[in-house]
Amino acid sequence: MTTFAETTATAPCDSLRRSATQVLLGNWTGAATVPSRALYPHQWSWDSAFIAVGLRHVSPRRAQRELETLLSAQWGDGRIPHIVFNPSVPDGAYFPGPGFWRSAVAGRAAGASAFIQTSGIIQPPVHALAAWLVHAADPAESRRRGFLPRVYPRLAAWHRYLGGARDLGGGGLASVVHPWEPGLDNSPCWDAALARIEPAPFGSFARTDLHHSSAADRPTDLDYARYVRLAATYRDHGYDDARTPHAFAIEDPSFNALLIASEHALADIAETIGADAGPHRRRAEAATAALVGRLWDPVDEIFHARDLVTGAAIAGHSVSGLIPLVVPGLPAAIAKALARTLHGPRFGLGRVHLVPSYDLTAPEFDGNRYWRGPSWFNTAWLIHRGLAAHGEEEAAGLLREQFLTLAHRSEFAEYLEPHSGDARGILRFSWTAALALDLLQTSVAQGVAR
Ligand code: SER
Repeated sequence: MTTFAETTATAPCDSLRRSATQVLLGNWTGAATVPSRALYPHQWSWDSAFIAVGLRHVSPRRAQRELETLLSAQWGDGRIPHIVFNPSVPDGAYFPGPGFWRSAVAGRAAGASAFIQTSGIIQPPVHALAAWLVHAADPAESRRRGFLPRVYPRLAAWHRYLGGARDLGGGGLASVVHPWEPGLDNSPCWDAALARIEPAPFGSFARTDLHHSSAADRPTDLDYARYVRLAATYRDHGYDDARTPHAFAIEDPSFNALLIASEHALADIAETIGADAGPHRRRAEAATAALVGRLWDPVDEIFHARDLVTGAAIAGHSVSGLIPLVVPGLPAAIAKALARTLHGPRFGLGRVHLVPSYDLTAPEFDGNRYWRGPSWFNTAWLIHRGLAAHGEEEAAGLLREQFLTLAHRSEFAEYLEPHSGDARGILRFSWTAALALDLLQTSVAQGVAR
């Protein structure tokens, strides 16, 4: 086992910058970036947002294109689908592919494109934040190309969808209706909700992910059978949020925190282009109050997801509950409490590698299996950003140094076993490379790159 002390010699910046850039160039398809050539050969929604944040340091123009390619697949109801399929990739290269989602037909009433094939579910709304950061990397180039005026109406429609059709609980937060939507697919937090779902028959689908990644690092077949059932039910109800009998409906802290951070970014965008920022600021404030009111647990000092089917808070401690650190107007006492939780036994900041995706002390913790314990680079980037914004410089600096060292040493792994720091999943993963490029631009004194 490697201890963290053995990994702290920061990789030479030039070599890290070069190899991270190579990953992004290698995964660029001409209009967008695949998360990985093998495991994820299409465009993924929140991946593209994180990728754009790093790509802006290589080519602001290409970063704009990344986001605009994604936005061109937006549905008429405002949703940004979680996958935009590349028509030149064979249908069998990824499961579930376009033949499963059938977006053009099943999503017609919801305004899916007749020409661009997509999935029908969504992912966390990091897009307005990414667009703002892409603009900030080169405002003159952004103005010349009319980037913000072009993306603003689409981003605003995306947020209207989330605040409208997706406020299933009626309390001012957006809900997720599939474990893939919060991005933390097989988190132990979803176990009880998923146990209610009748699995799809095992012979009815064939996984492709196991051709590219170790089965021990991925969700199980039983998880997949339930993912398939939930997605098929949503599809068979026309991806209509009001008509679908949602057996899985959750208010997730990270999803909503990213929506709030993006709503603030949308306000900044509105101000820059001469639109009215007021409604965005007011929505961000109201959603922050709802997040704290509905999901904050002052005893556990973490945000807990809420299961809308049972009405109860989900007891598990997930990295998702720490991500609200990125919310600009989070009360200082809560930010302090989150920093304590981060340093405590459940997440072990400084004693393990990055931030584990799930409580180290829980029996369900599995350091290898996707979101049941491994440390991910995007959540580390978000927590770094939140710590820096809330004046926790020492913790932010520690996380930044770990991030850069481990991204390089792991060959830009998808995720890491938190105790050993060993790579899990696949290598040359785009958002790991992109966010390393972003952190290279950031010093602790600067706080966060704008
Ligand atoms: N994360 C899921 C996958 O592994 C879907 O977005 O394919």
